[in-house]
Amino acid sequence: MKIPKSVSERAAHLRRAIAYHNRKYYVDDNPEVPDAEYDRLMRELEDLEAHYPELVSPDSPTQRIGAAPASGFTTVTHEQPMLSLGNAFEEQEVADFDRRVRERLTDVECITYCAEPKLDGVAVSLLYESGRLVRGATRGDGRRGEDITHNVRTIRSIPLQLEAGFGAGRVEVRGEVYMTLAGFAQLNERMTEAGQKNFVNPRNAAAGSLRQLDPRITAERPLRFFAYGLGIYEGHDVLPATQWDILEQLKAWGLPVSPLVRRCDGVEGCLDYYQKMGEQRPRLPYEIDGVVYKVDRVDWQNILGYVARAPRWAVAHKFPAQEALTKVLAIEFQVGRTGALTPVARLEPVFVGGATVSNVTLHNIDELHRKDVRVGDTAYIRRAGDVIPELVRVVEHERPPGAQPAKLPDACPVCGSAVVRPEGEAVARCSGQLSCPAQRMAAILHFAGRRAMDIDGLGDKLVAQLIEEGVIKTVADLYGLTLEQLISLPRMGEKSASNLLAAIAGSRQTTFARFLYALGILGVGEVTAQQLAAHYPRLDELMAADTEALEQVPGVGPVIATQIAAFFREPHNREVIAQLLDYGIRWSETGRETGSGELTGKTFVLTGTLEYLTREAAKEAIQVRGGKVTGSVSAKTDFVVVGENPGSKADKASRLGIPMLNEEQLLNLLQGEGDDHDT
Ligand code: IVH
Repeated sequence: MKIPKSVSERAAHLRRAIAYHNRKYYVDDNPEVPDAEYDRLMRELEDLEAHYPELVSPDSPTQRIGAAPASGFTTVTHEQPMLSLGNAFEEQEVADFDRRVRERLTDVECITYCAEPKLDGVAVSLLYESGRLVRGATRGDGRRGEDITHNVRTIRSIPLQLEAGFGAGRVEVRGEVYMTLAGFAQLNERMTEAGQKNFVNPRNAAAGSLRQLDPRITAERPLRFFAYGLGIYEGHDVLPATQWDILEQLKAWGLPVSPLVRRCDGVEGCLDYYQKMGEQRPRLPYEIDGVVYKVDRVDWQNILGYVARAPRWAVAHKFPAQEALTKVLAIEFQVGRTGALTPVARLEPVFVGGATVSNVTLHNIDELHRKDVRVGDTAYIRRAGDVIPELVRVVEHERPPGAQPAKLPDACPVCGSAVVRPEGEAVARCSGQLSCPAQRMAAILHFAGRRAMDIDGLGDKLVAQLIEEGVIKTVADLYGLTLEQLISLPRMGEKSASNLLAAIAGSRQTTFARFLYALGILGVGEVTAQQLAAHYPRLDELMAADTEALEQVPGVGPVIATQIAAFFREPHNREVIAQLLDYGIRWSETGRETGSGELTGKTFVLTGTLEYLTREAAKEAIQVRGGKVTGSVSAKTDFVVVGENPGSKADKASRLGIPMLNEEQLLNLLQGEGDDHDT
């Protein structure tokens, strides 16, 4: 079929446009058009090529996505071997390297180095002929690697055609294929969803992706490329004089080069660079495992030459490893302040990422099962920057025979109450609540809080003291406190002791809703407590209700219904309730209603993860006090509540000068001293 001129021109135009936007996106990190526009250009080209198959050329951007699966990899012999680098871990080793360089280059006092980040990925060689990508290969053993041309073609930051200014010869570009941290996390999420094993780290993920026989799989993997050097260099008059100029040349051809490359003078300059890169490392969107110092002048590189398989003119200065292997000694369950059971792996102490790690949290029972961690396992521990260390995965073939899968305990390891895990919930909890020491302090503070039983003067220090001295164990014990007990406590005068006793006595007259809220039943905030009280005016009926009946109460779903029923089933809780009633707790419709409206007219925005409150709980707590919670920050916002890992809302708030609250400040604002939202 004859291809009309207009069509071939259009196809050429589309290819140029796509290559341009690729470069803007992947090389310059500065996209000019939205993704949708890029996709549109791509689709138009695909349509044209589908109509006129003769239009398809191997360097067409459409060919990045879907060549037929290769049957295996053929071997490529590197005309110039791909070398490795000597390592330095200590400053002294860098100084020794620099001294050796200077000794060989007699009469040179101070060497200028080209300092580059050492990307933690996979070394590849890209061969361009007359500017067109003809072959991609792995490093292999340095002499012979594997032909991965089909796969490197799918990596969008690798140009299929070099930019203008390129001669007719052959050029081999060397560099690192890597995966961004975000891409790595997403890939692992997809692997998990598909029931497949996760990759240990971005480097393994990059290597695994490059070694796919089916380039369609590689195309779906978020791979990137940075060029750092040249191999074959034919058909050009002169080789650039310095490593720095080589990188400039590579950039001019449209290849991505790390923007973090610097020229440094002498050891001092190098160590300074090392320190700066170390500081930046936790914020980089990809992994680096050190820096590389290369003698900048190419003529000097040639004088220095090679030993064994590494150049004398370059050295890798490594950062402390972020991953290490160690043994899992035990798997224990910690009980948090909400009763949540968190599995924790106790480890043979291991030095990783600059610190010794002997425990790692496994977050919840699902994660424990997904990673299938067992006592005796050998595990990858990872600690990157200041991030909490994590157990990445276990090495299955090193598992001792007979190791059993870890199990959620039936009873709370702290108080022995039943452990419950509502269906569909990731979190298992101790149902002991009021009786579990792990939860006691939080439960008592919540109980005494202004919006619950409203006991004035019972702050956290005092409660901690009372628990420590063994004076109170449960909230019911508050009502048995005597003047003698209180004044025997350090720093407790008679006046404050009798004021406190009066406040405790006064709290016995309350409303049913406050009482229910004060019990601190998981998932039962003030609003739910009010609904429950309205639906079940009698406590004994509420205590006897099954989950099905409880689900009839507005605002109570299956999860909360399960939690309410479990709470009232638990013998400890029943006993505490009986004691409270014995101490004379009574309620009436006209009891002190929960005050409201102190936040009327105030608008809040929440960002980041809160530690004690769920989003929903924080929202409800603000709303019952008359406040409003909106999704975006504007000049009308009164407060921005900032949790862990806040989003751009926090930045916007600080730009607009809007007051920001941390979680503690929010809790204080909501409850005044001592109260505690535990929903
Ligand atoms: S230069 C002759 N520069 O590190 C010099 N290598 O241990 C050869 N690497 O296989 C390599 N970033 O995969 C060089 N900026 C960089 C690098 C780098 C990462 C890797 C590369 C190489 C290994 C050497």
